[in-house]
Amino acid sequence: MKAVVLAGGYGTRLRPLTCTRPKMLFPIANMPLLDWTLKKLAKNKVTKTILAVNYMTDVFIKHYGEKAYGMQIAYSRDLDPDHKTLAGFQKLGTGGSIKKAEKLIGHEEPFLVLNGDILTNINYAEFMKKHETSGATAAIALHEVEDPSRYGVVELTNEDRIVQFVEKPALDEAPSNLINAGIYAFNPKIFDYIPEGRQVSIEHEIFPKFAEEGKLRGYTFQGYWTDIGKPSDYLKANRLLLDMEIKKGKLGKNAALESETEIQKPCIIGENVTIKSKSKIGPYAAIGDNVIIGKGALIENSIIFPHTVISDFTSIKGTIIGEASMIGSSVTIESGCIIGDHAMIRDNVTLTQGVSVCPSKEVKESVLTPKCLM
Ligand code: GTP
Repeated sequence: MKAVVLAGGYGTRLRPLTCTRPKMLFPIANMPLLDWTLKKLAKNKVTKTILAVNYMTDVFIKHYGEKAYGMQIAYSRDLDPDHKTLAGFQKLGTGGSIKKAEKLIGHEEPFLVLNGDILTNINYAEFMKKHETSGATAAIALHEVEDPSRYGVVELTNEDRIVQFVEKPALDEAPSNLINAGIYAFNPKIFDYIPEGRQVSIEHEIFPKFAEEGKLRGYTFQGYWTDIGKPSDYLKANRLLLDMEIKKGKLGKNAALESETEIQKPCIIGENVTIKSKSKIGPYAAIGDNVIIGKGALIENSIIFPHTVISDFTSIKGTIIGEASMIGSSVTIESGCIIGDHAMIRDNVTLTQGVSVCPSKEVKESVLTPKCLM
């Protein structure tokens, strides 16, 4: 079975962290999101995965090469290096990028398509089997959520037919609580319905029409699911994974914890991490490889990317800190902050809720209103 992972979005809602890496490579419990996905695809009988790339293509190629988890990896670029024919378009959108991958996917058998920014434990093989049995052109995996208004929402019949598909409806106009989980099964016939050579949104242009014409099936699944679209979603994904997969906590090779360090599970600490005395880490902290944490520090519900230094008596809550950043001593970073790669936060600085700091920025004074520091 072949799978396509849509991985070419800019991830604008996760800036400034996406200024320096694609969101599919953000670590979740210390492993890139895309690795969690590829691992699961390989376990679900997928033999070839096509990454539909656009933004930071070379980073993906360098990271995965031509093989991962026993699967063949191929790359479909939205824009070929000589993209003269597509002048004016920066990317192809979710539908256009599937059409662009047509040759790599082929017409022999049904295939899977996934949004690259979701974390789930759906059984892909089971979902695919249901689709193959139905003989429909397209199927969507559906997940039940409390607030469907941020997603594509469906009306589903008892025979698993989707009769209405509405993208981001107002809460009182949502036909149900079943949302598009960003996981699709398609027959190669789908290619006949996607226009070539232009930006196409599968959610806006194809699914609503397919639903009206009775061509769309939907299958609900149990289990966990979240996307990492916004910073709060990303932290949620990290908590979810720590709860579901790393329950007992994990300490990397050569991690050095000094006396009276308190680790509250669930929590993951990477390789070669140093934590000095009387620091309190967790719950829900993911500390990347080679991070150094000073004494008396407090880190909870946060993601710290590799090679960062957090100095003595600093408190970090509900925050994402990029790679190789330097956080001074007695710093307070409140929830909802994002610190870009290689940033430097000087001693005694307080960053209030919702401050974001661009990569390589030095912050010398406290910032007490939410803003982006460039
Ligand atoms: P935002 O800019 O924050 O909305 O993020 P995004 O660009 O990733 O958009 P969105 O979350 O809607 O994308 C859902 C999935 O589709 C993600 O895995 C994206 O990488 C992928 N995606 C979105 N647009 C494109 C595109 O034009 N081309 C390709 N190849 N993938 C895309």
